[in-house]
Amino acid sequence: MPPRATAATDRLRVVVLVSGTGSLLQAILEAQDERYRVVKVVADKPCRGIDRARERDIDTEIVEMGADRAEWNTCLADAVDAAQPDIVVSAGFMKILGEGFLRRFEGRTINTHPALLPAFKGAHGVRDALEYGVKVTGSTVHFVDAGVDTGSIIAQRPVAVRADDEEASLHERIKKVERELIVDVLRAAQPRGEELFIQLAD
Ligand code: GRF
Repeated sequence: MPPRATAATDRLRVVVLVSGTGSLLQAILEAQDERYRVVKVVADKPCRGIDRARERDIDTEIVEMGADRAEWNTCLADAVDAAQPDIVVSAGFMKILGEGFLRRFEGRTINTHPALLPAFKGAHGVRDALEYGVKVTGSTVHFVDAGVDTGSIIAQRPVAVRADDEEASLHERIKKVERELIVDVLRAAQPRGEELFIQLAD
């Protein structure tokens, strides 16, 4: 389905997908302005992210995965579609989005990843970077495609690794950068026809 026709004066309609504490969601919510607004938060399980949305009276839905993954993808897409988003943000959403979802939302779904892709894809990007011994890692915002963290890159920011870093300390510094970057990306996003155009100033 093409993106909702957005008049120039409309704010971008954002649906956020979460699974956990939702600190990225919180940053997205606090930075809402005339450029975008969060119209719904969807999770795969009860979580703090859902609570944060409810505290602000934002529409929420939990779509738990049962035995049938294809059916879950369709239900998730229906939950998102109900809010008529221009853009879907996976912000700490820990499930892989499958064909039934992407058929309807590819090109309009972005993800924030705590490493500099294409290095350290997957669920343990912070730990893997630390174990490899890199001196610089960071945050990537990218379009979601059928692979795991393989979609085209929209924006990246670096974070220096410290000699005494542990996974938690490094992840916290990366998340600080992730929060700023995802807000900058949302502020730069513009629906154009059936695609989203996102270009950040250098
Ligand atoms: C972020 O680092 C995100 O990139 C990763 O999970 C973390 C989510 O943090 N996939 P929070 O739930 O928003 O606090």
